[in-house]
Amino acid sequence: MSATSAAALEFPAAANRSGPAEHVTINPLGNALGAEVGGLDLARPLTPAELDAVRGAIQSHHLLCFRDQRLDSDEQVAFSKQLGPLEVFPEKDKTKGESTVYNVANVSPEGEHLPVDDHRVVFQKVNARWHTDSSYRYIPSFVSIMYAIRVLPEEATGGETEYSNMLDAYDALADEMKARIEPLHMVHYFEFGRRLFPELPPVSHHERVHVPPTCHPLVRVHPDRGYRRSLFFTTNAGNEVSGMSMEDGVALHRRLASHVSRPEFCYKHRWRPNDLVLWNNRVLMHRAKGYDMARYPRVFRRTTVAGTEAVLGPYSQAVQGKVRPLDTVFKS
Ligand SMILES: [Fe+2]
Repeated sequence: MSATSAAALEFPAAANRSGPAEHVTINPLGNALGAEVGGLDLARPLTPAELDAVRGAIQSHHLLCFRDQRLDSDEQVAFSKQLGPLEVFPEKDKTKGESTVYNVANVSPEGEHLPVDDHRVVFQKVNARWHTDSSYRYIPSFVSIMYAIRVLPEEATGGETEYSNMLDAYDALADEMKARIEPLHMVHYFEFGRRLFPELPPVSHHERVHVPPTCHPLVRVHPDRGYRRSLFFTTNAGNEVSGMSMEDGVALHRRLASHVSRPEFCYKHRWRPNDLVLWNNRVLMHRAKGYDMARYPRVFRRTTVAGTEAVLGPYSQAVQGKVRPLDTVFKS
């Protein structure tokens, strides 16, 4: 598949244009990634030109923040579907209404501030580790969309979501490390969270059947970016590297996790009420910084745009002859 056709697959050309989206403003949030987008009300359908502007900004900035949005659940689903079909969450007990809408909160759907040992609250601690959403799927997600309904007061510490740019993190690796990880794959599995927090209930039959363990390349190749490489891994859904001893794989995994934490790759988002933030899971990792969950109730509503294809690595058949040899990458 050519770069052009891959991009077309992801972002089909808009028909019946209604004029340029000159009212849309896009301002970077930092050096590593992210932009604040203004001039749009996401509760109403975007025009084709507006949608093109949003899609282009996702591709360029990886994370977009829209301030002061007012969306109910149906409106968030409608906005999300403009970017592609939605993922259905495997955890039926954490969804509200439609299984495409995930209640990311320490407050129950009925409004009760949940105790810190409630498994729905404990489960959120899994997300304090670097990850890309739904990497435990054979086809991981494309874009996650999170809307802040209730956030922490200004005086509270913690609670930010931190993001790391996997394209830049890969580029900054030493040549020796690039060569070492080039052929490697990592095991991703939903059940790994139970190893981190054994007090969580066992995975359900539904979860076991719908999200069995899978394997992805540690080095991801992006056809829509001229076959550029990035890192692709997780620390909340596994730490095993195929073909390595458990000990060596975990050591390599730990080293990569430390690498992506370097500030020059990262942006930390401090949530304001009515922020809608979306991010591209193909090129970003993220982690939720802890906060006093017993003291502060917090509510987000998440939807997720599904991915369209399995993760491609340098040795994937679909990219043979199109990926630059590693020695030419070293020289660039
Ligand atoms: Fe996440």
